[in-house]
Amino acid sequence: MKIGFIGAGKMAEAVLSAAIEAGVCAPWDITACDIDAARRKFAEKEYGVIVTDDAAQTARTCKVLLLAVKPQDADALLREARPALTERHLLISIAAGKTLAALKKAAGGKPRLVRVMPNLALLAQEGMSVYCAAKNAKAADKHLVARLFGSAGAVLELPERHFDAVTALSGSGPAFVAYFMRALIEGARALKLPADAAALLAGQTLIGTGIYLQNTGRDTAEFIKAVASPKGTTAAGLAVLDRSDLREVVGRTLAAAAARSAELKRA
Ligand SMILES: NC(=O)c1ccc[n+]([C@@H]2O[C@H](COP(=O)([O-])OP(=O)(O)OC[C@H]3O[C@@H](n4cnc5c(N)ncnc54)[C@H](OP(=O)(O)O)[C@@H]3O)[C@@H](O)[C@H]2O)c1
Repeated sequence: MKIGFIGAGKMAEAVLSAAIEAGVCAPWDITACDIDAARRKFAEKEYGVIVTDDAAQTARTCKVLLLAVKPQDADALLREARPALTERHLLISIAAGKTLAALKKAAGGKPRLVRVMPNLALLAQEGMSVYCAAKNAKAADKHLVARLFGSAGAVLELPERHFDAVTALSGSGPAFVAYFMRALIEGARALKLPADAAALLAGQTLIGTGIYLQNTGRDTAEFIKAVASPKGTTAAGLAVLDRSDLREVVGRTLAAAAARSAELKRA
């Protein structure tokens, strides 16, 4: 199976490197198409993949295409590749805000379509990728998407109507989590903890708590209660959080991101 990555930026690199590492595809079956000569040189040297700057040629040689350019470049690129696209093509797009309907319009009705919303944690092979498939996609197409993105994290299929919420939570989420991490570091610095130590302790605490809750499926409210012994240190901190409007602020943060996602779709 030959896979063409159209756009070989950081998201494409995260997927292709993890897919090679996991044995989902071999380097010689991958074509990385990018207009940036430096990116092509890097992909060829680092991963041993075939490189080109010709999207139509990529579509002629690869029946699976992963569209990984910025959303504003997607339409022009699909127009360029369109004459080469057939019913035998599977087009997987990670372009934020590009709906299945918009992809169909730009790519023509022929290729089978799957839309994916990954996140930046793909770079640490701990990504969260959510996908939805057009009616013309086959079970094998979904399976391939799950294997490709699953080599760099978790994968979930959801109906496209949830994609604004998905974009807000897992797509933009790494920035929100980093914001909280920054607040933890600043708080620890105010307590005179050295900067390096504060960053390590904050990051490892977020990672460890996330992994534990994910692996056990434990209810977060119950977990918070279990960590906080009566009149202890955690309870003292939680009393401040409980009096704050943090949960409401987080809710508004996600709502704003989802609303922007809906807006971009219409642009
Ligand atoms: N980053 C995230 O957290 C995230 C999350 C979810 C989804 N996404 C989506 O993932 C996609 C890729 O994002 P990214 O962060 O990997 O972007 P990126 O690093 O900028 O990669 C895109 C690459 O495509 C190249 N390109 C542009 N036009 C091209 C063309 N006509 N033919 C071939 N290559 C072309 C770009 O070259 P130039 O730099 O020279 O333009 C760049 O090397 C975007 O659509 C984004 O919405 C990103």
